[in-house]
This record gives sequence, structure tokens and C-alpha cells, in this order.
Amino acid sequence: MSELRIDNYLDADYFDRSLRSDVLNGFDSDFKELPPKWFYDDHGSQLFEEITRLEEYYPTEAERSILRTHAAEIVALSGADTLVELGSGAADKTRVLLDALRDAGQLERFVPFDVSEGILRSSSESILAEYPGIEVHGVVGDFERHLDKIPTTGRRMTALLGGTIGNFNPHERKGFLTEIVAGKNPGDTFLLGTDLVKDHDRLVLAYDDPYGVTAAFNKNVLTVLNTRLNANFDVDQFEHVARFDADREWMDLRLRSLVDQDVRIEDLDLDVHFDAGEEMRTEISAKFRKAGVEQELATVGLELVGWWTDERGDYALSVSRVS
Ligand code: AVJ
Repeated sequence: MSELRIDNYLDADYFDRSLRSDVLNGFDSDFKELPPKWFYDDHGSQLFEEITRLEEYYPTEAERSILRTHAAEIVALSGADTLVELGSGAADKTRVLLDALRDAGQLERFVPFDVSEGILRSSSESILAEYPGIEVHGVVGDFERHLDKIPTTGRRMTALLGGTIGNFNPHERKGFLTEIVAGKNPGDTFLLGTDLVKDHDRLVLAYDDPYGVTAAFNKNVLTVLNTRLNANFDVDQFEHVARFDADREWMDLRLRSLVDQDVRIEDLDLDVHFDAGEEMRTEISAKFRKAGVEQELATVGLELVGWWTDERGDYALSVSRVS
């Protein structure tokens, strides 16, 4: 019997409240910083889609090729009957895993977790139609807050794909991984996609493409603030900056003010000053090495049991298990 259930933990003004507090906190100190989650309004999501189709932005295709080649092995190793996908979005890569689970006769349940109810509902409905007989139990939430709402039924493999974990700094990663493990039963597994440290020029090119798509994506966060908080950022007075921080091994994305300027954020009754040349961080995207991933997983009680990369060694998928 097919079954669809969706639980929504985000009340109507959850986003307004968290945007306001993120902006107040982020503009409060000498070093300005905004969390990357505010990139993704409709236009920003569209720009991100465009980024994933660029030759220069290798992670999407690299991850897809690893999944295509190793999905059977991954699901066999997991022994899972339930796929939990964090930030499932349109769930396109998910289908490769669902196919592998179904072909192995293991597929019982899909649990997509996403911030957008609209996307979650439509992808859940198509997946239910494509995989008749499975149970789909969607959860609408913020994965920094609502991981404990994920149902614990079945033998679960929890997937965090796309290199999303790279948006967290090491401290946040530890907290996030701890939360993941807290909800796990013995035998449950974690499937993680991580972008790897590589030639610095290739990294920078992936985050500063020659067509300006990533620049537009980065600057779009200012438009989001203009629209949602009645701010008056002049997007043309900022430029996109992407550099690799070799010590911390992360891509550091910023917006640099081209001039000395004041910006008004009406809804927060806030005036923000930018010096000419001042930079505001909008995203980090951490790059990993196998030893580091293994160690970070071990710290929270996850044992690395599988590691696969694409042919060029650009990107890795790992499976770990509650030890
Ligand atoms: C969606 C966080 C995985 O860090 O590579 C792409 C976002 N930013 N280009 C990444 C992003 C600029 C992306 N993640």
C-alpha cells in the first residue's frame, strides 16, 4: 500500500525570524558575515542550478558519476531499507539510490527532509508514483534545528549529498554530526558527499566562473535582503570575491564593497556602513581529505566503512556506521 505523509515543523514566520536574527548578528561585529542559506530564494536556487551545469563547477557531475558507478555497493554495504535524504530538494540524485535499493529488494521507505514544503511535496508525490508500494514520510524543517523530528522507523541510511557539509565550519560540523548520530540506531549508516582538496586554481575557477554565474549567485543575497527586509543595497556597488584559504582548506566567498557606503535595512531599523574595499563573508565551502573525514566521523562515533571517489579524485562519497 502506497502512503504519503508530510510533517511541517516550520511555522509561517520561522524564516522571517531567523533571517532577522542572522542579519542582526552578522552585521553586528567588525567582520560582517551572512549564512549561505539566504542565497536560495527562487532566483538564487535557479542560479545555483545554473552553476551545477557549468563545466568549471565539477562537484555535481563528479558526485553523480560516483553514485552511478557505486550505488549498488553503497546500498549493499548499508543494508538499509529506508533512505533519509537531508536537503533532498528535487531529489534527482536520490533516484539513483532508490533504484539501487529497489533492485536489491531492500526499498521500503523514503524520508526526504527539506526546508521547502512545495519542493518536498512535489518531489514526494513523483517518487511515490515512480516507486509504487513504498512509504514516503517527508519532513519540512531546518536541518540545523529539526533533525530530531526525523522518524526512526526502519534500518536507515541518512544521506547528505552535494558537498553541503562544506558550508559548516569545523565546530558547526561537529555539532551537526553529533545530532545525526544522536538519532541513529545501531546498524544505521550515514552517506556523505565531500568535495576534496585539489589544485587551488581549479577550486577558485569553480567558485569564480568566467560567465559570472557564481558572482550573480553571491550578489543575489543582497537582493534577498532588499526584498525581505526592505533594504537598499546597490548590488552594483559590490563585487564577488572567491579565494581558497589554504590554512583552513575552505573556499571563502565574499562580497567586497567597491565604495565607502551606508546601507539602510528598514525592517531592522539598521544602518550598516561599508568601507571601500571592506569584505563581507557570504559562504565557506570546506574541502576535505580522507584522513580528516575519517577522523571527524570517528570523533562523533561513526566508523568509516566505505570511500569512493570519481576518476579524477575530485570528490568523495563515504559511508559510515554507528560504531
Ligand atoms: C550547495 C553548498 C554545496 O559549496 O559548492 C556553489 C554552493 N556556492 N557555488 C558549494 C555554491 C558557490 C555549494 N553547496
